[in-house]
Amino acid sequence: MSTNQASNDQVIIFDTTLRDGEQALNASLSVHEKLQIAQAIERLGVDVMEVGFPVSSPGDFESVQQIARTIKNARVCGLARAMEADIDACANALKVAEQFRIHTFISTSDVHVQQKLRKDFSDVEAMAIHAVKYARKFTDDVEFSCEDAGRTPIDNLCRMVEGAIKAGATTVNIPDTVGYTLPFEFQGIITNLFNRVPNIDQAVISVHCHNDLGLAVANSMAAVQAGARQIECTVNGIGERAGNCSLEEVAMIMKTRESLLGVQTNINHQEIARTSKLVSTICNMPVQLNKAIVGGNAFSHSSGIHQDGMLKASNTYEIMTPESVGIAKTKLNLTSRSGRHVIKHRMENLGYQESDYDIEQLYADFLALADKKGQVFDDDLEALLFNIQQQDQQDFYKVEKLNVQCGDGDFATASIKLASGENTSIESATGNGPVDALYQAIKQAVDVEFEVTDYKISNKGSGEDGLGQADLVITWQGRNFHGYGLATDVIEASAQALIHALNSIHRAITIADIKSARQEKQG
Ligand code: KIV
Ligand code: ZN
Repeated sequence: MSTNQASNDQVIIFDTTLRDGEQALNASLSVHEKLQIAQAIERLGVDVMEVGFPVSSPGDFESVQQIARTIKNARVCGLARAMEADIDACANALKVAEQFRIHTFISTSDVHVQQKLRKDFSDVEAMAIHAVKYARKFTDDVEFSCEDAGRTPIDNLCRMVEGAIKAGATTVNIPDTVGYTLPFEFQGIITNLFNRVPNIDQAVISVHCHNDLGLAVANSMAAVQAGARQIECTVNGIGERAGNCSLEEVAMIMKTRESLLGVQTNINHQEIARTSKLVSTICNMPVQLNKAIVGGNAFSHSSGIHQDGMLKASNTYEIMTPESVGIAKTKLNLTSRSGRHVIKHRMENLGYQESDYDIEQLYADFLALADKKGQVFDDDLEALLFNIQQQDQQDFYKVEKLNVQCGDGDFATASIKLASGENTSIESATGNGPVDALYQAIKQAVDVEFEVTDYKISNKGSGEDGLGQADLVITWQGRNFHGYGLATDVIEASAQALIHALNSIHRAITIADIKSARQEKQG
């Protein structure tokens, strides 16, 4: 199926985790992190992935370009306001892809047109039509969005949708930008469009719902029942304010209630749990325990009556199985006596192909962990793999040695040997605790003025001997960077987290330098 011609029972899944989701994060993601998420979303089986807003920053441009170069099994899309410069940036970033989509948008509600854009509706309509025609010069896959469609007078909305399709839009998106509409109301908007726009059959009608009133998923499903055939959504529902429509929820609704709804998607449902975990970790956005489909309690039964029912017949209280979203049934504990083939077999059960990882590297890390920890569980194995994937060969800062001492006195001491590119430095510092001393020593060793604005340690994995995960946010020149570290020792995890964030800053500096050198050269 082409993404421009949704068959009647097929709903296109348009993932915007790396655009609408990413723009709401406290700290921006590095190119490497975005690529990791894009590859997971590709495995998940989405049809289209919107991966950034290329005109917004050199970093965004570069990540969109890298993702466009790498992703082969989903159409890659970039966002552009209804302006030629935005569309040029989008086309330039995406042209390395085999097939790509340009998504251009402009506001259509009275409040946005008058207060935000300070224009007349007819000016906005002309801008939209020009933008769609201009984008069509670069690709035959152009999506147009009527921002704040949920609050747009229906006559204006019909006029805009008809004009955009006539100008060449192959998908027209109807966003409930502020999450204001109710399901029957939103369904009415879509029904009206199908009844009143004469050329509506020449484009796919898409919906993009925000979750301010907790209705994003309900509104999206109501729209599908009225004929919409593309849903825009994000993994774990991350996004502006209360977030976007949650991908895993709409995907599981269409699978679980397929006979009633009569529609399907191309999603590989068994990839859901794994993708959710990856996005949550990289984005530093924990998933609430009672979140549908991917929350830690989504498949656990606590009350005695429910447990009794489950033991008698699982369908008494279970409408879908944890395995159907990729949560492994059995959790084996591995020890240092487990061989490579056992690790390979376990990884296969967890849904990883051999080509996803280097068994030698994973096995070496597994043995080191098993020596420290005794037993290694599924969560630990996945965490080790994640750690390996996080390590970028081109990291500028690398910890070579680390020593921290503290007792019951007033202060702790830390010494660090740190490689910064070709140079190595050794620094020592004291602090009012081991992490403070460590961070002071690292601060002395690097040439970056940063401030730690958030720091937390959590337990990752099963039981009291799980791994320690450190997450921090550091601020540099008004921008936030998230760092992540995972180790049996929380001090080591804390060092990894800070070094991870510092490497992201280093990459940001390098991209900015390249851009200013390019500008200087162009005169
Ligand atoms: O919420 C919104 O309206 C958007 C558009 C750019 C599609 O994100
Ligand atoms: Zn949005």
